[in-house]
This record gives sequence, C-alpha cells and structure tokens, in this order.
Amino acid sequence: MKNTDMEQNIKEVLVDEETIARTVKELGKQITEDYKGKELIVVGILKGAIMFLSDLVREVKIPLILDFMSVSSYGDSTQTSGAVRFLKDLEVSIEGKHVLIVEDIVDTGLTFNYLLDNLRSRKPASLKTCTFLDKPSRRKADVQVDYKGLEVPDEFVVGYGLDFAEEYRNLPYIAVLKPEVYENK
Ligand code: IMP
Ligand code: MG
Repeated sequence: MKNTDMEQNIKEVLVDEETIARTVKELGKQITEDYKGKELIVVGILKGAIMFLSDLVREVKIPLILDFMSVSSYGDSTQTSGAVRFLKDLEVSIEGKHVLIVEDIVDTGLTFNYLLDNLRSRKPASLKTCTFLDKPSRRKADVQVDYKGLEVPDEFVVGYGLDFAEEYRNLPYIAVLKPEVYENK
C-alpha cells in the first residue's frame, strides 16, 4: 500500500470523530458510576482496542489498573474462525478484582467467549465486557455485552484501531473500504 492510498480506498465513513468522542465520553461516565469504590482492572485486547481504550480510560474518573492481552484468531483477513491463540497474557493477577474487558468490535462473539471463559477461571470478583462496536447480526456465541458504543451493520469496517490485513488502524474514524480493496488482498 502506498502512503497516499489510505483515504482513496475508503468507500464511506460510518462513524466520524465527533460521534466517536461523544460515544466514548458517555461510556466513560457509565463506567465511572458503576465502579465507584471498587478495585477496577481494565483489560484491553490488543491490538484493535488500543485507540478506544486510551480514549475510554481518560473518561473514567476513578483509579484503575490497565493491563493487556493479545490474542490472534485463526482465519483469513475478514473472517474469524473461532479458534483463538494466546499471544500475550495479563501481567497482573485478577483474583478478587473487578475486571472489565475492552474490545474494538464484537462480531461472531467467539473471541470474547473464549476470553471470558479463560478469565472467569482466574476468579475475579466480577467480569464485564465493553466494546466500541457491535455487529449483532453476525453473532455465533451468546456473549453478554455490558457496555456497548455503537452498532454497525454487517460490513467489514476499519479505522480507530480496527485493521484490514494490519493496515488502516490509524484512521481517526470508522470507515468501510471500497470492495476492490478487500478483493485484492
Ligand atoms: P469475533 O470473534 O468474530 O467476535 O471477532 C472479534 C475480532 O475480529 C475483533 O476483535 C476484530 O479484531 C476482528 N473483527 C471483526 N469484525 C471486524 C471488522 O469489521 N473490522 C476489523 N476487524 C474485525
Ligand atoms: Mg481485535
């Protein structure tokens, strides 16, 4: 990809920067209310959640601990297969702590499902989920989403952390690429 191609390859902006900021602020407010007086560990799922996570935690006005997990789902660049491979585990213990997992997008739900099973076995005091985007039409696993930013239609989206074949994460908004871009990978 040439540097100049990024914006030329966009078909449509689905969520602009202003909407992102407003949505994140609202989620941060809810989380602040719900976790007052509790020991909160926020777990970001690399790499997709980093933009959302860094904006979100700055809207959460209580002390918290940040940690990360990195998983990779087997499958091609636009489809998850459901099999998840651990690339990086947490550095802190979550036993007895209130844990909030933060994802970029829940699609089939298979990744969240796997992570929830794994983290539940470590005996946190509570375990909740937060995602910036939700594609409910594609759900295969019955996962509970406790904090949700926005719903998106069944289209492959990029930007604000979300990638297509590792590119486009640095777009400051959520967009859909032109069909030929997806076809040519
Ligand atoms: P799930 O296991 O099908 O819910 O997929 C979750 C993961 O797949 C997300 O964390 C993303 O990394 C990736 N993913 C799902 N849909 C999209 C999309 O539209 N754009 C970019 N990545 C996506
Ligand atoms: Mg991801």
